[in-house]
Amino acid sequence: DWTMAAYRAEAIEKIRAQVGDKRVICGLSGGVDSSVAAVLIHEAIGDQLTCVYVDHGLMRLGESEQVVNLFRDHYNIPLVDVDASELFLGKLEGVSDPEKKRKIIGGLFIDVFDAEATKIGGADFLAQGTLYPDVIESVSAIGGPSVTIKSHHNVGGLPERMNMKLVEPLRELFKDEVRALGRELGLPEPFIGRHPFPGPGLAIRIPGEITREKADTLRKADAIYIEEIKKAGLYDEIWQAFSVLLPVNTVGVMGDLRTYEAVLALRAVTSTDGMTADYYPYPHDFLGRVATRIINEVKGVNRVVYDITSKPPGTIEWE
Ligand code: XMP
Repeated sequence: DWTMAAYRAEAIEKIRAQVGDKRVICGLSGGVDSSVAAVLIHEAIGDQLTCVYVDHGLMRLGESEQVVNLFRDHYNIPLVDVDASELFLGKLEGVSDPEKKRKIIGGLFIDVFDAEATKIGGADFLAQGTLYPDVIESVSAIGGPSVTIKSHHNVGGLPERMNMKLVEPLRELFKDEVRALGRELGLPEPFIGRHPFPGPGLAIRIPGEITREKADTLRKADAIYIEEIKKAGLYDEIWQAFSVLLPVNTVGVMGDLRTYEAVLALRAVTSTDGMTADYYPYPHDFLGRVATRIINEVKGVNRVVYDITSKPPGTIEWE
């Protein structure tokens, strides 16, 4: 694609001009945005870039391994990976308010990142995979500039505290353009086509209090859901699909036994930028298949429901 080839060359020149011979640190989230930003910046300035990946214990099944493999082994990009799950899950204990969860996670992320940056001798620049919709949604949600619906922790906060300047090479791009740029940079297709994943991760997909046990249950159920979507060849038609573990128990029967376990909600939407979205019209047999597998294979879930809310009036995430 000639447009993205030109964008790539121009972005690389801009990064070099901005950064000079200084050091850049980049937080990887496992998502396509920060991955594309990191690969682009690495192409521009090589080992002046260090990536940091923080596992807060609320990632999806196998996700941390995939990120580490891609960056360290495939791209040879210097990467520090930190297992901070004890810290995050500890501080989130007893917290159920969605914005409090975001604040705690955002704050801890800064602490961990800050500590890791100091360990490698500091950096003058912070790289972020901020997209155009992140920029506008975080300053001008419905109701004008003083009202935000959800605080997205990956916009703002860190650079002020760490006295760093920002490198944001994707700031003018929409999601589909970031994917095109990722392809242009040779990122593996499974990484490019990945559905977006929020910074707070599974924390905002467990309404109510978060425990490690709930996170494990949700991880297992969600892995089955996503596996079935891929098997049915639907993954690329859907903009974002995930499961939500509800803080509601319902009665069921398994064999001769009465069960009293949690409800899992499935979500899938089509969208072009996440600002508006429609629920995905799955065939009923698909939904039935997923529900049966999850209830049979995941301990702690005995009922599955499908969310048919579009955005607006709903948001994509439940929190
Ligand atoms: P909503 O739920 O606001 O989501 O319709 C729109 C898109 O943003 C993602 N999202 C977040 N991403 N930190 C993030 O990095 C957050 O706190 C956050 N909240 C929502 C959501 O997954 C969807 O892609």
